[in-house]
Amino acid sequence: MKIQLKPLQLSDANTLYDFFQKLPASENGKNNRAHGLSKEEFAVWVQKEIDSSHGKNLRDGYVPGTTFIMYVDGKPVGVSNLRHYLNDNLKKDGGHIGTHILPEYRGQGYGNIIKLETLKKAKEMGIKQVLIFNHDDNIPAWRTSEKMGGKLDSINIVNGIKTRKYVFDTSKL
Ligand SMILES: CC(C)(COP(=O)(O)OP(=O)(O)OC[C@H]1O[C@@H](n2cnc3c(N)ncnc32)[C@H](O)[C@@H]1OP(=O)(O)O)[C@@H](O)C(=O)NCCC(=O)NCCS
Repeated sequence: MKIQLKPLQLSDANTLYDFFQKLPASENGKNNRAHGLSKEEFAVWVQKEIDSSHGKNLRDGYVPGTTFIMYVDGKPVGVSNLRHYLNDNLKKDGGHIGTHILPEYRGQGYGNIIKLETLKKAKEMGIKQVLIFNHDDNIPAWRTSEKMGGKLDSINIVNGIKTRKYVFDTSKL
């Protein structure tokens, strides 16, 4: 099995359109803003994601972030987002990393793999401490955080939702 985590690129927009339509629009606080877009709108969205990765044209209150696609044997299976740093709001909820696996590929260990591969990207980027927030009722999400070395820092009610805060020391990866 060959695993690759690649930053989203404009040249991949055509081949990734169906993938982003199959990925649900919103689950457990993880949004797929490309869901429901036309092909033309999707290409514009991809460019905005690439801009964000370079810290360009950021909306007020937004920090730079990179969108990665995880390919398994050349097939897109999941997407992750890595924020390059956090503002005060994101330190309370949001954190550095979000992950999303296509429904048909869930429960096969890919959630663990995409989290680990994205943590490695964070380390490469020089992020020493990574924060990840998971809803308490989203068991697959927080199991992946614990399995990949996250330490449970606290459990808080954030926007009315019981939320677990995990801290990762990337020097241990
Ligand atoms: C969270 C998510 C990425 C996990 O991906 P996945 O590929 O299903 O995860 P894995 O197969 O690697 O399983 C991860 C762990 O959760 C456990 N798990 C999976 N489904 C489970 C379920 N329904 N109930 C309990 N545990 C479950 C697995 O056993 C595994 O633990 P283990 O390695 O100790 O056995 C995926 O479910 C998803 O995309 N959910 C929607 C978006 C989301 O919630 N993202 C997280 C918030 S940003």
